[in-house]
Amino acid sequence: MRRVSLFASALPLAGLAAAYPRVDGPAPQAAAVQFASRAATGKTVIPKDSFNSFDTHWSYNYPWGTDHNGGARMNKQKVSTANDVLTLTASPATGEPPATNGGQQYPVHYLSGTVFAKQQFTVKPGGGYDFEADFKAPVAKGTWPAFWLTAVKGWPPEIDIAEWKGSGKISFNTFNTSSQVAAHDVTYPSPENWHTIRAQIRTASATDVWVKFFMDGGEITTQYGKNYVNSAFYLIVDLQMEGSSGSPGPSAGTTFQIRNVQVTDYNP
Ligand SMILES: *[C@@H]1O[C@H](CO)[C@@H](O)[C@H](O)[C@H]1NC(C)=O
Repeated sequence: MRRVSLFASALPLAGLAAAYPRVDGPAPQAAAVQFASRAATGKTVIPKDSFNSFDTHWSYNYPWGTDHNGGARMNKQKVSTANDVLTLTASPATGEPPATNGGQQYPVHYLSGTVFAKQQFTVKPGGGYDFEADFKAPVAKGTWPAFWLTAVKGWPPEIDIAEWKGSGKISFNTFNTSSQVAAHDVTYPSPENWHTIRAQIRTASATDVWVKFFMDGGEITTQYGKNYVNSAFYLIVDLQMEGSSGSPGPSAGTTFQIRNVQVTDYNP
């Protein structure tokens, strides 16, 4: 999504990470066994039926408000849930003032829906998370749905677990800086069907993580994020429009559906 922040990150991330040394030495046996079983099974922190109890797990709009870097303004009315499926709907709108982000203006041509997880996610030394969900995502020009993680403070870090930029492809991206980004696009088959996307995030060093991306059970690519350890993330599901997906977007309404979101915590 290439989130542009007004603020450069002032956090001394490397210094923070150094303050949390990796546990490399031999641990007492009981502790080691406990760690091993917990690391192997993980702890479910967002359950597959989270949309059945929406207010427990999710909030409306972006964590910073209704606007971002595209042609949609988010509105609670454009979010609905039924049978544990979340539906975000974008509809053409006129007379909306432009959105402002990172000192740039974006003409607003749609009202659409966005939600973010109430919980924040911080990879701890030796730990990580799995993020998984099923999607029915639009791929037409001007539609820009995504399921992504972005830094609570500053920017980056950002991991686009799944992003569709109006090209018929799906993109998997990890940002070190705005110009240092790993971006991997693959053809997105039959968008009218459900597809399962999973990102597995684990520490690669005291400061860095690796991210493995899977689609429908098949491994797609591995990327690395610098200084992601001990950095808090928001998890966002949005149906942004135009922007990176081109314009004009569709003249009719567009929907983005997601179900079975599951987040598993593998932190020690
Ligand atoms: C980001 O930083 C990590 C850790 O240094 C490195 O392995 C990776 O290649 C970098 N990614 C890009 C796109 O430069």
